[in-house]
Amino acid sequence: MNILVTGGAGFIGSHTLIELYKAGHIAVVIDNLSNSHPEALNRVAEIVGSRQQAVSIPFYKVDIRDRDALEKVFSKHHFDACIHFAGLKAVGESVEKPWEYYENNIGGTLTLVDVMRRHGCKNVIFSSSATVYGDPVEIPITENCPKGQCTNPYGWTKSMLEQILMDMQKADSEWTVVLLRYFNPVGAHPSGRIGENPNGIPNNLMPYITQVAVGKRKELGVFGNDYPTPDGTGVRDYIHVCDLANAHVAALQCFSQDFKHSDNRTFIYNVGTGNGYSVLDMVNAFVRVNGVDIPYSIKPRRAGDIATCYCNPSKAKSELGWQAKYGIDDMVRDSWNWQRQNPEGY
Ligand code: NAD
Ligand code: WQD
Repeated sequence: MNILVTGGAGFIGSHTLIELYKAGHIAVVIDNLSNSHPEALNRVAEIVGSRQQAVSIPFYKVDIRDRDALEKVFSKHHFDACIHFAGLKAVGESVEKPWEYYENNIGGTLTLVDVMRRHGCKNVIFSSSATVYGDPVEIPITENCPKGQCTNPYGWTKSMLEQILMDMQKADSEWTVVLLRYFNPVGAHPSGRIGENPNGIPNNLMPYITQVAVGKRKELGVFGNDYPTPDGTGVRDYIHVCDLANAHVAALQCFSQDFKHSDNRTFIYNVGTGNGYSVLDMVNAFVRVNGVDIPYSIKPRRAGDIATCYCNPSKAKSELGWQAKYGIDDMVRDSWNWQRQNPEGY
């Protein structure tokens, strides 16, 4: 398939490009590089190319809010589908700058899907998040679990965009909408050439751990050890980014007319492993597998955090034939392999 990948220079987008090329698809990337580096795309090309055949990935530095620029890209290329990663994703920043998050994520997506439909491209895979479940009413979380109250504007953009895309599909049966609700992506491509490259102080656990390991931060703060979990620290469903990338390739089958005959062509999948690991499980696995010490101290709970969040991923397995292959040891090994080789990122 010919696929438009928005946000393709980012963490999950760059890993997905590799799996798309491996599966024989053609991808065109648009990204405004607000949270990424173009070097990621050079490295993707290096990984998917070979001595016999160099690969260059068509890239446009385009903002999804820029209708004219999008029009130009759609006039130049035919797309069968769009995998839509582009968006701002920092939870804390979204509390400080709600307008910027709504304008970028919702405004940008509205412009993108309008240009898509004008050009007859009505297949979209949207990067949603476990955050739409709020404080989930069931664990493990199935896709039938009701959506909840988000604790920040970032989460609301995901929840609202799900609703917007579902409504568009309901009104126009030519659309097929796939909502992938990611759990906690970590790890990196096993080559160590691409990985997560956060700006400034990392918000998320794994990049914080790797920056402590590489000596950029003194110690990890563990946000709370009094949760109702086995060791008192928060439990999450960490998923290797290469598994997550592959879930997008698997989800492309939703666009075949043979896939599940039904009028409702919105498909929702949890993308996680189904395993819950605590903060200390992750720290201990990192130390054991990589032989690097991670000093930490217990800090107060972080506002908005929940105790436990992991999914039941069986719907993706039964309908898409996708399941995670990498375990916790692979995740901590590959996260460290990337950070060790690229202490300053790209
Ligand atoms: P990322 O920041 O690495 O990638 C997002 C990319 O989108 C970046 O390259 C950024 O430059 C680009 N972008 C942002 N706004 C844009 C705009 N207006 N126009 C064009 N490009 C724009 O983030 P990621 O971790 O790769 O996440 C990808 C998607 O998955 C995001 O939508 C994110 O919200 C979602 N998601 C991420 C996680 C996670 O923990 N990483 C979890 C659930 C969902
Ligand atoms: C994981 C655990 C923290 C950092 C966030 C978003 C969510 C999704 C994924 C996009 C928690 C603890 C963390 C640290 C810590 N993103 N922690 N010290 O909060 O589960 O999910 O990213 O959609 O929307 O909310 O991920 O990696 O921040 O935290 O103790 O320095 O690690 O308290 O228990 P989270 P995280």
